[in-house]
Amino acid sequence: MSETTDRIASIERDALAALAAAEDDAAIEAWRTRVLGRSGELTGVLRGIGGLDADERKVVGAEANRVKGILEAALDERREALRRAALASTEADALDVTLPGRPLRRGRLHPITQVRRRILDVFERLGFQVIEGPEVELDAYNFGALRIPEHHPARDMWDTFWFDEEVQGPDGNERAPLLLRTHTSPMQVRFMQEHEPPIRVAVPGKCYRYEATDATHEWMLEQVELLAIDEGISMANLKGTLQEWARQMFGPSRKVMLRNSYFPFVEPGVEVAVDCFQCPGDDPSCPVCRGSGWLELMGAGMVHPEIIAAQGYDPERYTGFAAGMGVERVAMVLLGVSDIRDFHANDPRFLAQF
Ligand code: PHE
Repeated sequence: MSETTDRIASIERDALAALAAAEDDAAIEAWRTRVLGRSGELTGVLRGIGGLDADERKVVGAEANRVKGILEAALDERREALRRAALASTEADALDVTLPGRPLRRGRLHPITQVRRRILDVFERLGFQVIEGPEVELDAYNFGALRIPEHHPARDMWDTFWFDEEVQGPDGNERAPLLLRTHTSPMQVRFMQEHEPPIRVAVPGKCYRYEATDATHEWMLEQVELLAIDEGISMANLKGTLQEWARQMFGPSRKVMLRNSYFPFVEPGVEVAVDCFQCPGDDPSCPVCRGSGWLELMGAGMVHPEIIAAQGYDPERYTGFAAGMGVERVAMVLLGVSDIRDFHANDPRFLAQF
């Protein structure tokens, strides 16, 4: 073996070892330049062949070309191996089962829906049937049939969204005014017109009021109306029903107050309030009670005998109670929300808390 073939053999040995140690594209490229590049080690040997005598030239030339082929093949193989390893490691990352999962955003019921369902659950257990009525209502039901005729000062209790169009009324009147109901009380009359006592209904639904908003007032609100008509129903039944409802909703420690109030469709009328959850009850700057210590949840009372009589029932035989509660007000107490406007402002950061 000549000196040159020894040299070729040592280039091959060292180059293969160095290639196996090359771990990235940059190292491989440096290796290629050093061994196979224009002034690389093996290239140098091939260039020097011209200076050898004819016999040796033949042997060395063949040997150098054989090694060149081996190294080129080894280079391709090493590149491919590194490419596969890189791919495998990204795939492994993508499937890393030890990574924490990405949180899925879960849908949920609107807090008002949740609270409405709780309210109705309690009344259903107390024997009330749940029914619904129209949000677009006739003046005749929203006011007239509830003893609030046109120009009656009690109309000021409900600032009203009116429609421009007038429609045909139940009495055949071609020009009956139409409105967005301001309360669910018109369903007292609609239900009594179509059903005989005994009556026990709970009527959930949206109501609308054309009024300025603040922490306890919104222009759209939900109510649940209660109506019970039967023989021998008294104020004690109203009080007992509402107290039992409040106990099941809020627990035994929340105070419930009934105080005298006025609505043209009940006699006597009351207003039902619970003790303030926001302040000790004496803070004049409290948005919930304004220092009164109480948050009003509903109006209620004994159904006016004239209304019972107007539906064809004998008011000496049948009496009843009615109540209309604000679902958002109940939700404020249950969820500790001090501004009613948060409920329908559609801020997901607020809604996601419930
Ligand atoms: N409808 C009345 C309101 O919205 C509340 C109420 C209902 C009062 C039933 C008495 C009886 O203000």
